[in-house]
Amino acid sequence: MGRLVAVGNLEGGVGKSTLAVNLASAFAAGGRSTVLIDTDPQQTAARWAAHRLLPCQLLEAPIRDLAGAGAWVGYADGIRRTNELVVVDLPAVLAAALAAACLLADAVLIPTGVGRVDLGTLQRTLHHLRAARRESRGCTPLALIVPTRLPAPGLLRRRVDLHALADLGEPVAPPLHFDPAFEAAFAAGRWVGDIARGSRAHRDLAAVQSRLEAALEARPRGSAATLAGETVARLVGRSAGSSARPSRATGEGWPGALPFASSAAAAPLGRETSRD
Ligand SMILES: Nc1ncnc2c1ncn2[C@@H]1O[C@H](COP(=O)(O)OP(=O)(O)O)[C@@H](O)[C@H]1O
Ligand SMILES: [Mg+2]
Repeated sequence: MGRLVAVGNLEGGVGKSTLAVNLASAFAAGGRSTVLIDTDPQQTAARWAAHRLLPCQLLEAPIRDLAGAGAWVGYADGIRRTNELVVVDLPAVLAAALAAACLLADAVLIPTGVGRVDLGTLQRTLHHLRAARRESRGCTPLALIVPTRLPAPGLLRRRVDLHALADLGEPVAPPLHFDPAFEAAFAAGRWVGDIARGSRAHRDLAAVQSRLEAALEARPRGSAATLAGETVARLVGRSAGSSARPSRATGEGWPGALPFASSAAAAPLGRETSRD
């Protein structure tokens, strides 16, 4: 049973996909079998991986509605069973996707800006996370707030703003500072440890990765998925008795094989992109 790390925030443009793609790549480059699942219909991660130059495997499984979110849990749980690490890039806005991912995830990374607007959306995001914790009797998930796109270190105002994040009651990771290397990595279809090794972006990413690893190590394996099966059934109001498991090679099983999949969610689902 591998670990599932979701990257989500109800706010768009905060760096979710950037963190998800680079983090999954960093783990894969370090030798862990890592799958990145793009659940955002906007397909940022999928477009990033389309060059086939990322070290991680990419699966597309867009979540469009509540039924799709429920079906997705069974799908993602199957992927987790055959890989060491699953990183999930979530869409903004769709609270059902966030809720489903929170039920399944070992950890939820929440990239965020540090302005007032950002903090308001962050509070709403944390509300879903805490609801998932109540559903799962506190077993899942751990949270890690990741300040993103911060100006270069040393600006007093930003340090003060970071205190506001710490006051929210969840752990705060080292920040990802603003670095054009992230944008350049997207343009090249690579990750920052590949095209900008040793850059601020790469070092910041490594610090977030270390913080996440430390948090995951302190957490027992296996409890989240079992609880998620029951709680998601309640969430979608139907039986989550699906035993459909996608094969790693094809990504099949999303969502057609699942009994309550939304018929509106048509191809291309479960499409796979990988290096080989
Ligand atoms: N740390 C960063 N430094 C510079 N640009 C960044 C950083 N993180 C994200 N970006 C840029 O911000 C934009 C939005 O990022 P993205 O990851 O697509 O956000 P989201 O997935 O939350 O919508 C992209 O142009 C991306 O290159
Ligand atoms: Mg995105």
